[in-house]
Amino acid sequence: MNETVKLIYRDKTFEFPVVTGTEGEKAIDITQLRSQTGLITLDSGYGNTGACTSAITFIDGDKGILRYRGIPIEQLAEKSRFVEVAWLLIFGRLPKQDELDRFSRRLTANAPIHEDFKYHFGGFPTSAPPMAIQSAMINTLACFHPQFITLGDEEAFEEAAARLLSKVRTIAAYAYRRSIGRPFIYPDPKLKYVANFLHMMFSMPYDQYVVEPEIEHALNQILILHADHEQNCSTSTVRMVGSSRANLFASAAAGVCALWGPLHGGANVEVLEQLEAIHKGGLTPQKCIEMAKDKTSGFRLMGFGHRIYKNFDPRAKILKASAEKVLNKLGIKDPLLDIAMQLEQLALKDQYFVDRKLYPNVDFYSGIIMRAIGIPVNMFTVMFSIGRMPGWIAQWKEQHDDPNARIARPRQIYVGPTVQDYVPIENR
Ligand code: SDX
Repeated sequence: MNETVKLIYRDKTFEFPVVTGTEGEKAIDITQLRSQTGLITLDSGYGNTGACTSAITFIDGDKGILRYRGIPIEQLAEKSRFVEVAWLLIFGRLPKQDELDRFSRRLTANAPIHEDFKYHFGGFPTSAPPMAIQSAMINTLACFHPQFITLGDEEAFEEAAARLLSKVRTIAAYAYRRSIGRPFIYPDPKLKYVANFLHMMFSMPYDQYVVEPEIEHALNQILILHADHEQNCSTSTVRMVGSSRANLFASAAAGVCALWGPLHGGANVEVLEQLEAIHKGGLTPQKCIEMAKDKTSGFRLMGFGHRIYKNFDPRAKILKASAEKVLNKLGIKDPLLDIAMQLEQLALKDQYFVDRKLYPNVDFYSGIIMRAIGIPVNMFTVMFSIGRMPGWIAQWKEQHDDPNARIARPRQIYVGPTVQDYVPIENR
């Protein structure tokens, strides 16, 4: 059935088609709006605007549903591994064993970075924010792999995707090692994706880090839960940059920059700092809730609220359970977990949060697990960028392959000064 909507403007009636998605979502296709009516739409923050159609991730924010290529996140978090989920997101279905093996081999082969990267790492102050290094070095991949600046065939794309997905963890580990003055640890081709990352983060030349299965599983799960999330701020940035036909590395580097913001991926750092402030005694959970409700405080309960989820973020539910399990398995009693649970309980009973449907999001519990694994707070958002990399790659490719894709160029409504003449400086 071809649904339409009618718009009446200045006594004229205009009709526009309604697009329906496979899950029943509806949108007005306004591609012809300006040419027919002379009007554009205005939607600050794009809360009501779809930027594209996509077959990668589906979210039902009211029901707390998240699926990658149709598969519920709960099943993937329990049964899959990050590399398999990356393949699912990028290539559109679950891989067969030989496909997964080939992709794993590509990731292993591409784990090392060019030796000359060390001159770049060496140029950063040890206090450099790891997210700044992450975006800079991902962009620098184009200098060492110029053959992927203009993308060729499917084989070239798979190689470029594998290089980016593999090297992003080497870059992250090296940024961490640089910040603590420890030697870079080369990737070990005998180790799988997450274990290799932990090895590069925590081994010493004379002392190989032993990867506990529980820790490897917990980090696999964290990366799976972060792997994609529709058209969030950083993914939309990757698409925006990619729409100019900029290469995959440049687009991903831009995604890292957008993710860094405290309202987005940077929230996982803010959550930990908030919990630590409470633990140190400066703040109480009740005080946090009061400040979060007080508009004049400029304070937000970090890790709470979401543009799409008006119910529990399913990832937060999984991470909350995982946090308890990992800490128990590791015999760690982290007071911050108890404080987080207290905060959650208080907020979920508070009318301000209830009225605004503010629930814990993916960032609320993730930091507690990463802290238990030994990942420092300033690396939390870097971990988010590693997890989100397959989603960025998949979304970039989906747009790249769309024959109808155009360079993204939003319009505006001008509210500045009307026309005026230049005034020579002596007359100002
Ligand atoms: C991520 O988009 C994605 O999918 C993102 C992400 C992904 O996987 O890519 O899920 C990852 O970024 C998760 C969000 C991490 N950020 C935080 O935890 C920061 C704290 N949360 C907020 O700043 C906020 O909830 C956002 C940024 C997440 C959402 O912002 P919106 O959709 O613009 O909502 P809003 O700011 O318009 O808030 C609506 C109301 C406002 O109150 P009123 O003006 O209606 O009275 O809710 C209030 C806000 O003041 N509010 C909060 C709050 N979040 C929203 N009040 C106190 N504390 C909060 N955390």
